Amino acid sequence: MPYNATPSAANRADRFIWRRKHLLGLRDLSREELLHVLDTAEGFKEISTRSIKKAPPLRGKVVVNLFFEDSTRTRNSFTLAANRLSADVLEFTATGSSISKGETLRDTARNLEAMGIDIVVIRHSAAGAPHLLSRCIDAAIVNAGDGQHEHPTQGLLDIFTIRELRGDLKGLKVAIVGDIAHSRVARSNIWGLHKLGAEVILVGPPTLMPASVEKLPVTVCHDFDAVIPEVDVMNMLRVQFERIGSTVFPSGREYSRLFGLTMDRLKRARKDVLVMHPGPVNRGMEIESEVADGPNSTILRQVSNGLAIRMAVLFLVNQAAALKEGTDKTP
Ligand code: NCD
Repeated sequence: MPYNATPSAANRADRFIWRRKHLLGLRDLSREELLHVLDTAEGFKEISTRSIKKAPPLRGKVVVNLFFEDSTRTRNSFTLAANRLSADVLEFTATGSSISKGETLRDTARNLEAMGIDIVVIRHSAAGAPHLLSRCIDAAIVNAGDGQHEHPTQGLLDIFTIRELRGDLKGLKVAIVGDIAHSRVARSNIWGLHKLGAEVILVGPPTLMPASVEKLPVTVCHDFDAVIPEVDVMNMLRVQFERIGSTVFPSGREYSRLFGLTMDRLKRARKDVLVMHPGPVNRGMEIESEVADGPNSTILRQVSNGLAIRMAVLFLVNQAAALKEGTDKTP
């Protein structure tokens, strides 16, 4: 297996056959599948350290970035990942396209498919848009964030970063702090972390907790100060004002006072606590600048790891698509 760096990862990866043509969310993935993506990404990290940062596995394939919502990190990371694997990349942005003339998602996708595309990376404000697409076109579909539902590659890169710095995830305590209700990042993290044996604590005001939170494999705490000393990881989420209809807390200042990660709070945490954030960061709101740029912060490492995770995901869904086209008859 040429894309696996460490012997244990390579051994595991050698024994596993990836059969998922679409990556729609982490909820459906087994522990073995999660580990397989992480192990595959480990091998791909090495490519980014070469002077010629390119490998051939997607040569001759076309990847479409179909983005109906704003993005900086995710979109560029998918583009670069596809480029590093030698695919051709088609960039589609909803504004300036025929979407504004009334074309449906299905029609847009089918027209793009008629040009001979292999993988669609889709970000959409509607939960379930990638699932819909997987039922109406033949290309492999990768979810790059669907509404408040899931953001699987972000969940994977967060988990990859924790594993890289802490080893096994089993028994680790991970606090996800802030606007959980509107966060697809939180949902993907919850499913992935839970399957790999970590304990997830959701922290935030009751108004920013999701409906039916009791059905999730988590504990909930509304007092950030109470959990700070005991956690191994704090994943700080942005308050997603663009998804919030009504007032959910009195003011930004009040929110930061209760749930912002300040230097004072960090001093009460474990010395080696990992401070994570998926970006974009609202400095001074959910996290103080000094903390975001400090030694515990993994924010830029997450971005670098995101590239390896997306290379792994594009590589694997393409491999599964090839299996299905060949002799394999599983649905
Ligand atoms: C997140 C998203 O879009 O869901 N960002 C990202 O992909 N890195 C989180 C956010 O927008 O706050």
